[in-house]
Amino acid sequence: MKVKLKVWRQKNASTPGEFKNYESPDLNPNMSFLEMLDVVNEDLTNAGQEPIAFDHDCREGICGTCSAVINGKPHGPHKGVATCQTYVRSFKDGDEITIEPWRAAPFRKAFDKIMQAGGFISIRTGAPQDANALPIAKETADLAMDAASCIGCGACVAACKNASAMLFTAAKASQLNLLPQGQPEKDKRVLGMVAAMDEAGFGSCTNQYECSAVCPKLISHDFIAKFNRDYIAATFRSAFQQAPAVTTGGGA
Ligand code: SF4
Ligand code: FES
Repeated sequence: MKVKLKVWRQKNASTPGEFKNYESPDLNPNMSFLEMLDVVNEDLTNAGQEPIAFDHDCREGICGTCSAVINGKPHGPHKGVATCQTYVRSFKDGDEITIEPWRAAPFRKAFDKIMQAGGFISIRTGAPQDANALPIAKETADLAMDAASCIGCGACVAACKNASAMLFTAAKASQLNLLPQGQPEKDKRVLGMVAAMDEAGFGSCTNQYECSAVCPKLISHDFIAKFNRDYIAATFRSAFQQAPAVTTGGGA
């Protein structure tokens, strides 16, 4: 099969970009979307033209670097599937496919800053414990694993009209906040990650849930509600800790 590609090309952030049209060569429908770009790029390179630049690494839905808006949707047509796991057979022979980058100003470095602000546990954990030394309810372990499946791709930010990073931040905080090992630093983590998120310029969450609709790992927006509860509790606790001690009686 063959497809027509309409691709956003832009040399750098200070140069205006534009859509350019390309015809694919003959494609095997079982090629991945990124393999299709590889063969288009081979033709462009052989013709002395600049290949289409795109991010990728693992090509198996793990690393979160393949970030393309395909036909207006981050990661393309399928729910719970990353760009690299999308196949040419998802389209029809002769289809026109529009390919654009994420359009959100703060991004990967900003995600790193949010992680540096609290996405870790700083206690010394020592050697691995025996399996049942620290019992954790199955439901809690499952929820923490769901949160931990976030690959940091940024589709949630790209899909949000406010460019909010709440789904990413909530997932990264919850994977630790849910477990006993994450409790000692929970408040510091939540307050630090929210401050880093605000400082990076991400917008606020207005509960539209476009984020969870495009998330390739199907992270639920319920994590945002949980994160908000953790944030409110941490704010109160921190305000009480900072308030001057109130003394009663014993006047001068
Ligand atoms: S929450 Fe989902 S969409 Fe957002 S960065 Fe994580 S995996 Fe990507
Ligand atoms: S290339 Fe790693 S998730 Fe797509």
